[in-house]
Amino acid sequence: MRPALLFACFAAGLTATIAACRPAPGHPPQPMLNPDQITDFTTLYNQNCAGCHGASGENGPALDLANPEYQALVDDASLRRWISSGMPGTQMPAFAQSAGGMLTDAQIDALIAGMRRAWSRPNIFAGAAPPPYAQNQAGSAQHGEQIYQARCAGCHAPSPQQITSPEYLALVGDQALRTIVIAGRPDIGQPDWRHLGQSAPLSAQEVDDLIAYLDSLRNPAAAAARPSNPSKSSAPGR
Ligand code: HEC
Ligand code: HEC
Repeated sequence: MRPALLFACFAAGLTATIAACRPAPGHPPQPMLNPDQITDFTTLYNQNCAGCHGASGENGPALDLANPEYQALVDDASLRRWISSGMPGTQMPAFAQSAGGMLTDAQIDALIAGMRRAWSRPNIFAGAAPPPYAQNQAGSAQHGEQIYQARCAGCHAPSPQQITSPEYLALVGDQALRTIVIAGRPDIGQPDWRHLGQSAPLSAQEVDDLIAYLDSLRNPAAAAARPSNPSKSSAPGR
């Protein structure tokens, strides 16, 4: 049995699931489907993703993949990249067999197609243009701090879970922060880029600046040496 299935048997911890993992008494064992052959979306999702991203793509510790704004924001190439190779700066593991994971490329394609089918909604942005999914220009950490005070601190400063603490920021990469700021997390009450405390939506530049500010808090000493955070494409691990 491959680790993905083992994990599902143990992690679920439910009698029904354990029963499903063993042949019922008095019955010959069913011929087992080679795990590489499984391409059913629900099975693949439940076995590999649900533990972190939530049973139906929400209310898990990690991003709600079922958020239709997220599905509209992210392109297939990015999905394939994160699922195959993992997401730098976060707990998101690499799943492609070529990267040491357990899934074939066909299974990763089945996951992407299945997420689109289950969780996309047509015209979810209703004409509004969100800031681009990926950062495409350098941000100003200084300006980002002002944006944080105006748009985020009202909800986050008094919270016991400080998103500005280096401990929190060490666990979450820049793209993950950016995704949450733009698409929101309806499952935990994080508003999207249009509903952040003022009448105007956050602009693309403001998102870049905000992420530059949060990034500067990860390592305050390094940030002091480069206050207006250049493009981070060369920084490993983010
Ligand atoms: C061990 C926990 C864990 C598992 C298992 C896991 N993920 Fe993730 N994933 C994360 C974390 C953490 C992030 C970063 C976002 C966040 O912090 O919420 C992430 C990020 C992602 C992203 C990128 C989000 C973005 O910003 O665009 C995608 C896509 C994704 N996961 C899909 C999957 C799929 C599909 C599976 C199953 C094949 C899976 N993940 C399994 C923890 C996990
Ligand atoms: C209207 C209130 C509100 C505003 C404004 C707001 N947030 Fe949040 N945010 C929340 C809530 C509620 C949560 C969920 C908190 C939790 O689960 O502990 C959250 C969670 C988050 C998370 C995820 C934390 C995690 O557990 O992974 C991030 C990142 C985040 N917010 C960033 C921001 C940023 C950056 C801004 C400003 C652009 C902002 N938020 C503005 C209410 C808000």
